[in-house]
Amino acid sequence: MERKTLDALKNEKDAVILAHYYVDDDVQAAADHVGDSFTLAKLATTIDAKRIVMAGVSFMGETVKILNPDKQVYLPDPKADCPMAHMVTIQQIKEMREKYEDLAVVCYVNSTAEIKANSDYCCTSSNAAKIVGAIESKNIFFIPDGNLGRNIEKFFPEKHFINNQGCCPVHDGITPDLIKQLKKRYPDAAILAHPECRPEVLDLVDYKGSTKGMIEAVKDLNKDLNIIITEEGLRYELDKTYPDKTFIFPEMICEGMKRVTIDKIIDVLESGKNEVHVDPALAERAKLPLDRMLDICS
Ligand code: 13P
Ligand code: SF4
Repeated sequence: MERKTLDALKNEKDAVILAHYYVDDDVQAAADHVGDSFTLAKLATTIDAKRIVMAGVSFMGETVKILNPDKQVYLPDPKADCPMAHMVTIQQIKEMREKYEDLAVVCYVNSTAEIKANSDYCCTSSNAAKIVGAIESKNIFFIPDGNLGRNIEKFFPEKHFINNQGCCPVHDGITPDLIKQLKKRYPDAAILAHPECRPEVLDLVDYKGSTKGMIEAVKDLNKDLNIIITEEGLRYELDKTYPDKTFIFPEMICEGMKRVTIDKIIDVLESGKNEVHVDPALAERAKLPLDRMLDICS
């Protein structure tokens, strides 16, 4: 279908499209706003339209709905999921709360509404250290991403981190050996990596940070050649922002993000299907850790 159709539909339905940097180029091009997880969560609280289509994976749709209970929020494909969002259980949280009296449960935004509702603080890859720095409790149960927890733990020697075992299958697959090979092959390149990678990988790179952080860091690192250790969808924004630079990505593909297509967006706008529903009582509890994150980072 033509882009004109999508624009007309957006107007007719009073809809705004939000997209994560990992979705396909044509979806990013069609979106009203493209961003990292934190930018999208923050932006979602300021949107004036009646309907929001979240072009991303399901926890992102849930997050937008939790922050906007009165809006109609849609996912182009409800099967677009982040496996890491399910890598911790409520039982684990309960057991940890029983074990440590002074415990803060810090929940990466890549998590289900149920897990958020049982957590104390949310964070994203761009603000995890800032959030932990604002918490008084000594014991931090960092869920579900063990790599992100380990990557920020070193900034807080006074705290006791209990890092969950979950990980992003896309980022966790990157090994220190691969980084060493890339360094050998491209000695003049800057290497930038997402903090969902293992700590041994981040130890070898020039910059570690969220997708948005990486886009900004390319400017400061000032290299013609940049190796980007994250999902390949980020190439679209990098090429747009730095047309004279070269970007190399190892093959990193998030299957969930790749399920989002323009046709599916048109379909949900036309049919009204795939609306995101979160039980209002659960959403109210899940909103608290998200609001705390937004407050700390305001
Ligand atoms: P960002 O916080 O950089 O948007 O990352 C989200 C994500 O899912 C990375 O895999
Ligand atoms: Fe989840 Fe990894 Fe995909 Fe991000 S890249 S949405 S963490 S599976």
